Amino acid sequence: MSKNIDTESPDIQLDVGQMFDIDVDMKVPGFSEPNEYVPNIDQAYRFDKNTTLAILAGFSHNRRVMIQGYHGSGKSTHIEQVAARLNWPCVRVNLDSHISRIDLLGKDAIALKDGKQITEFREGILPWALQSPTALVFDEYDAGRPDVMFVIQRVLEVEGKLTLLDQNKVISPHPSFRLFSTANTVGLGDTSGLYHGTQQINQGQMDRWHIVSTLNYLDPELELKVVLAKVPAMDNKKGIEEAKNMISIANLSRQGFANGDISTLMSPRTVISWAENNQIFQDLNKSFEITFLNKCDETERVIIAEYYQRCFNAEMEGSVAEDLVEE
Ligand SMILES: Nc1ncnc2c1ncn2[C@@H]1O[C@H](COP(=O)(O)OP(=O)(O)OP(=O)(O)O)[C@@H](O)[C@H]1O
Ligand SMILES: [Mg+2]
Repeated sequence: MSKNIDTESPDIQLDVGQMFDIDVDMKVPGFSEPNEYVPNIDQAYRFDKNTTLAILAGFSHNRRVMIQGYHGSGKSTHIEQVAARLNWPCVRVNLDSHISRIDLLGKDAIALKDGKQITEFREGILPWALQSPTALVFDEYDAGRPDVMFVIQRVLEVEGKLTLLDQNKVISPHPSFRLFSTANTVGLGDTSGLYHGTQQINQGQMDRWHIVSTLNYLDPELELKVVLAKVPAMDNKKGIEEAKNMISIANLSRQGFANGDISTLMSPRTVISWAENNQIFQDLNKSFEITFLNKCDETERVIIAEYYQRCFNAEMEGSVAEDLVEE
């Protein structure tokens, strides 16, 4: 990976209230110029106040921030979009069970030099990011393998140096290096049954995260703004009415999930997909079925059809749910 970082430290102060459209009077450091690792700005992005403030504390005060919450609530993209606005280079690494210590730390690789084969050490993502003004985001933090988690533990402390044993090298973090993570659980294992494949996180490791912020669902008004911004064709009287009902169903499914009535919930990601699919099929009912209903357990579809009826004041047509209701 080439290091093409023009400015090594933040060189401007940005107004938070204005930049993220949230009601606070605060300034944060940022970079005047982006480099190739700064994520693209999503103009339709709407920021949740608490999550944004937690992430900004991470950037401006060098805090280690974990964002936890249900799937599709906007955890990863919140960090990415904050970084995009600050022009802060940001790299996301998905800590799935295939990531190994070698991927993170680096390995010897064969290279050609002056026509001869030599072995040289190729550093992994962790030493690379650690030495640059980069925000490293570990996604699916609770899915990481234990051996990998112990590698990360070393750099969780702000002054945390990284020792590359086979290199006899100790790396100190760059002053503008930042570390974030996102997870569906709080490291206590999967109590809901929703997040198969997650692991318990060592408490010594959890302890090193300075800030843990929860993002489960967006405020319904904010969610409406997100849907309309993502699917501008709905930004009219009829569309807004429909979008509000869609969000109501989503919220009913979230409540139902919390109460243990159903085992699947509609995330903001699903609501956006539903709105997008509706643009393709021009049929709310059908697009609901293919976006969400078909992912639900058959025995629970009756309950979901009931939510649909409550929110749209209309029965679901021609769906499995309807057949079930009739029985
Ligand atoms: N506040 C928001 N404004 C605009 N779009 C949003 C917002 N929140 C979520 N989205 C959209 O919803 C989708 C899911 O977001 P994201 O991938 O960040 O969720 P996540 O919480 O990281 O999910 P997972 O737990 O599955 O990793 C993305 O397409 C994102 O653009
Ligand atoms: Mg994510």
